[in-house]
Amino acid sequence: MLNNDEILQLQYVEKLKTIIEEKEKALGRKMTCQVTTFGCQMNARDSEKLLGILKKAGFVETESDDADFVIYNTCTVRDNANQRLYGRLGALKPYKKKNPNMKIGLCGCMMQEPTVIEKIKNSYGFVDLIFGTHNVFCFAELLCRMYESDSRIIDIWEKTDKIVEALPIDRKYSFKSGINIMFGCNNFCTYCIVPYVRGRERSRNPEDIIAEIKGLVDDGVVEIMLLGQNVNSYGKNLEDPISFAELLRRIEKIEGLERIRFMTSHPKDLSDELIDVMASSKKICDHIHLPLQSGSSRILKKMNRCYDKEQYLALVERIRAKIPDISITTDILMAFPGETDEDVEETVDVIRKVKFDNAFTFIYSKRTGTPAASMPDQLDEGTMQRHFDVVLKEVQESARERLKRFEGRTVPVLFEEVNDHDPEYIDARMTSNTVVHVKAPSSCIGKIMNVKLTEFHGFYYTGEIV
Ligand code: SAH
Ligand code: SF4
Ligand code: F3S
Repeated sequence: MLNNDEILQLQYVEKLKTIIEEKEKALGRKMTCQVTTFGCQMNARDSEKLLGILKKAGFVETESDDADFVIYNTCTVRDNANQRLYGRLGALKPYKKKNPNMKIGLCGCMMQEPTVIEKIKNSYGFVDLIFGTHNVFCFAELLCRMYESDSRIIDIWEKTDKIVEALPIDRKYSFKSGINIMFGCNNFCTYCIVPYVRGRERSRNPEDIIAEIKGLVDDGVVEIMLLGQNVNSYGKNLEDPISFAELLRRIEKIEGLERIRFMTSHPKDLSDELIDVMASSKKICDHIHLPLQSGSSRILKKMNRCYDKEQYLALVERIRAKIPDISITTDILMAFPGETDEDVEETVDVIRKVKFDNAFTFIYSKRTGTPAASMPDQLDEGTMQRHFDVVLKEVQESARERLKRFEGRTVPVLFEEVNDHDPEYIDARMTSNTVVHVKAPSSCIGKIMNVKLTEFHGFYYTGEIV
């Protein structure tokens, strides 16, 4: 059943279609569009919606920067994401001068920051459409307004309690898909801007999630990734609360679905019920992404992560006791204000004890408006880089050692895409999320097959179909 917003927006998609048809007639050619995504999987999913609507309206996708409509779906989690956006945006200006038809849109997390909107108004006056994370579902409506008024549209909502999902989507992969199970975040880790730009936590109804997954499976999808900033608190604010573990149990029953992944799991909310469901499941992948951020209890407290070093290590032990071979990956944030050499040692200690299969390491980036930004003991750049380098070296060594365990095994892999460097190879993924390069025809893409892992290359394998 469609809700009122979905019905309304689908009407706008139809209206947009007629606008684009008129433009095509005037131009004597198709209208082109380009969607560029910065940031996380949730933004990637939102971009699939943007592209879905654009294609439905008649646009043809292009990689080139001189498209008739270019939209950047932005991220603001670290300052370098912002800087990259400004760089890309600056480079668009000459294209717009050449093509008077060209329109430029900006959306996503950065647009929820008032200072960013001011800067764009002042320095990038050639942008035509700006909206944020809460009204991304109004994209078709906003495009209609932009084309009809032929003026700049800026529409940012401070928050929303709406969940509008049943709109056209253009999936990047035919055989796997992300699915939003919740939006926003209530955790307010002191360094993080996400709760400010994505709003409070809201869960989708389990029935809607299941219906969407069934639709995807009918459409050929074999692997899904359930998305949320903290999936372990899924369902707590629903009218009929259910746990994330229970949601997984229900999803497991969907026939034809082969693999279930999810991210991200906040360590503070990971239940024993979830571990049990993972251990007994045939479809949930042998992988959990469990962001550590820091191994120092003192820093974790200042980060407001709500767990300490010992609790994290105990959690890993509980998981490995039930699922010994599981792949555990993590995020580590180095150089938080006040971090000392002793704190870095604590983080190194956790890395050595846990042996992550993979770790994403980030240097702390000061985000205006977060509590950490006004902490007095911000580190200088040299110290930041030194802390980062120590940890990066450690995670690389430890991952290399841990990943060796698969050598010689025969494992099922999902064939995903042609290898960038050698088109005779396909990049495939184990349930542990480890990449395997396999010599195979491209007709294998989307299939799950058994592969023998013949050679280990430090962070990926080569394998042969058996
Ligand atoms: N909800 C997820 C994380 C989402 S952001 C969780 O709680 O784990 C992804 C990663 O970006 C975080 O895990 C953190 O390591 C990093 N990050 C967030 N804010 C940051 C900041 N201000 N500077 C540097 N890295 C940051
Ligand atoms: Fe940011 Fe923390 Fe929320 Fe993750 S849990 S999005 S790090 S505030
Ligand atoms: Fe970035 Fe927004 Fe995701 S800030 S990491 S795109 S939620």
